[in-house]
Amino acid sequence: MSEATTGTMSGAAAPAAAPASRTPILEVRDLRVQFKTPLGTVNAVDGVSYELYEDEIVAVVGESGCGKSATQLAVMQLLQSPPGRIAGGEVVFEGQDLLKFKKNGPEMRKVRGGQIAMIFQEPINSLNPVLTIGDQLVEAYELHCGLKGQTDKQVAIDLLKMVGIPAAEKRVNDYPHQFSGGMCQRVMIAMGLSCSPRILIADEPTTALDVTTQAQMLELMKNLVREMHASLVIVTHNLGVVARYVERIYVMYAGRVVESGSTKDIFGNPRHPYTLGLLKSVPRLDEVQGSRLIPIEGMPPNLIDMPGTCAFLPRCPYAVEQCRTEPWPELTCVGEGHCARCYVNVEERRS
Ligand SMILES: Nc1ncnc2c1ncn2[C@@H]1O[C@H](COP(=O)(O)OP(=O)(O)OP(=O)(O)O)[C@@H](O)[C@H]1O
Ligand SMILES: [Mg+2]
Repeated sequence: MSEATTGTMSGAAAPAAAPASRTPILEVRDLRVQFKTPLGTVNAVDGVSYELYEDEIVAVVGESGCGKSATQLAVMQLLQSPPGRIAGGEVVFEGQDLLKFKKNGPEMRKVRGGQIAMIFQEPINSLNPVLTIGDQLVEAYELHCGLKGQTDKQVAIDLLKMVGIPAAEKRVNDYPHQFSGGMCQRVMIAMGLSCSPRILIADEPTTALDVTTQAQMLELMKNLVREMHASLVIVTHNLGVVARYVERIYVMYAGRVVESGSTKDIFGNPRHPYTLGLLKSVPRLDEVQGSRLIPIEGMPPNLIDMPGTCAFLPRCPYAVEQCRTEPWPELTCVGEGHCARCYVNVEERRS
């Protein structure tokens, strides 16, 4: 097995209790999202299912354009429509299908921010440049907690302290441009967690930041959600960076989940060639600087015109005849809680 795929999981999140013995707080079932474009319909999310358990931290991982954000925006009913639309599926949260709620109705507004919070890509764009950090924190707090005009600045100061901003009493009066990228990210985390949600979804929380700051952000989120007994979904294209913070991983390719399993299984026994490619192509926090990274050759498919066969086939070094003649296989369990969408036993082929 190659160096890139075997690393010890030093500092990994504590092993998860078997998910089967825990209660799922969120179940996404067969979710489909489409975007209408002048060139045709983009099947951005094509039957994605995943579960999130209480107190659990999971990652959704995949290359740019594979449907990570579209999935999470659909969960929150925040897809821009048009051109986006939810074409099918269920999002069951605490026993209720959120997709049955009106997008801007009172039930969905209560869930959004209050019970399920989301941190978006590019934090600097999510902050308003003409309002102080304190005013924005107060605004988010009141919005998410259903309060209006009842909050004083101390709440914002406490939130800044919670996410480790030094001299919070002073910094609360600053504007976003006076904060570094990492500090803006901390503010976004504070806003997301301001009303103690049950679930925090952090979309690419770390891409614009250097590796050390990325690790600090993930550590911070992990500690805060643990304290609050919340669950966390980390959406990222970098499998290496999340390894030590998450208990389970969903790997997405071309709008579908191609592999899911515990962090230990995904790193120690990857069963989809795409996962293997990702593991070799991304830097790891626990790896010596300068380790050789091997990019995955080729491009993801056009989501408007998908092949009937496995979408990873043109890039797959392990393909066999069956892959060229049969439809994209179903997600099949290869071990307890470990599933992959592949005809080939990659483990055997690599040994
Ligand atoms: N507003 C839109 N109009 C048309 N197509 C869109 C729109 N938003 C997303 N898409 C398409 O849907 C697919 C999934 O996009 P999505 O933003 O979910 O990808 P992603 O996995 O989050 O990528 P990234 O890592 O770059 O954030 C992509 O092919 C993208 O081009
Ligand atoms: Mg995205």
